[in-house]
Amino acid sequence: MPSTSLDRSPYLLAARGEPVPHTPVWFMRQAGRALPEYRKVREGITMLESCMRPDLVVEITLQPVRRYGVDAAIFFSDIVAPLQFAGYDIEIKPGVGPVAADPIRDAAGVAAVRPVTAADVPFTTEAVQQLASELGGTPLIGFAGAPFTVASYLVEGGPSKDFAKTKAMMHGSPDLWHALADRLADVAIAYLAVQVEAGASAIQLFDSWAGGLSPRDYERFVLPHSAKVFEAIKSYGVPRVHFGVNTGELLGLMSAAGADVVGVDWRVPLDEAVRRLDTPKPVQGNLDPALLFAGWDAIEPEIDRILDEGKKAPGHIFNLGHGVPPNADPDVLARITKYVQNRSAR
Ligand code: CP3
Repeated sequence: MPSTSLDRSPYLLAARGEPVPHTPVWFMRQAGRALPEYRKVREGITMLESCMRPDLVVEITLQPVRRYGVDAAIFFSDIVAPLQFAGYDIEIKPGVGPVAADPIRDAAGVAAVRPVTAADVPFTTEAVQQLASELGGTPLIGFAGAPFTVASYLVEGGPSKDFAKTKAMMHGSPDLWHALADRLADVAIAYLAVQVEAGASAIQLFDSWAGGLSPRDYERFVLPHSAKVFEAIKSYGVPRVHFGVNTGELLGLMSAAGADVVGVDWRVPLDEAVRRLDTPKPVQGNLDPALLFAGWDAIEPEIDRILDEGKKAPGHIFNLGHGVPPNADPDVLARITKYVQNRSAR
């Protein structure tokens, strides 16, 4: 059973659309290179290795909570980590991102992708359990990559700007595409289930690159697979957040896929974002990460505007419109956290 304080935490209240003591705030990619204490513990240790060590996962997940006083922690892992844990050959290259050894072109390639079982990831279960206990009243967000965004790395072979090969597969070999996306839905479901069963109190499905698709293609090739993920997690009763970048045209569809909370990047104001949803729901966002470098006099009015626009939603979780850049100043993030919490306090 969750503790009462966890159940009444600002993040979970906002995610359920209930009144909050203050607007909760956390930052996507809050654990990572912007923090000197992160760079220190990661020295000489690969990303994969660090994800398999509960002591490091716990420490890195807690670092931004200690440093910023954010209202939620996000489990330290990566969207391709569950593929690696299940034996798939994909590497996270520093400064680049996920790079697949053998990009998927056919049914044999799809067959090489498999979901983790709890037995593959005892270190994940251990780390989440320890985090849930150490975090007490602060929620732990579990996450996974959505089928499209993960597929883009597997089909392109690495990061891409236009997703040309992925789109060619969707339209040219739709059966192959749907088989791959269906498997990747199972990959996400299995990894999310491990995290929630071990004590994560919310989940976020990252479809970071979905904004590269037209609404028509999204609806036909992606929505059914992301919907499968949300549907499978529904019975756990934890809030399900859905986020992507440049998804202004897709917000209604991404919401309809089964999200309880919709993440919004900086391109669409939150009040307008709520109007674009299939039905009014809590939203998360949406300070432009570029503003982190603009000086406080520029940041403060932007926060005020976002808090105002967020009042039009049934709930608002403050965040950046995308992840913390590696060269961000931690002091600026700490100041934003305190400002949002104080300014919104009732
Ligand atoms: O605080 C957190 O959010 C930490 C957990 C986290 C990581 N990756 C750790 C990580 C989360 C939630 C992710 C998600 C992720 N990974 C996404 C979706 C979110 C988004 O940013 O849109 C995507 C697209 C990836 C794929 C990926 N993995 C990229 C693009 C990179 C960056 C490559 C680089 O070095 O610039 C990674 C590697 C990665 N994942 C790092 C971290 C901390 C950096 C690697 C390192 O520190 O050595």
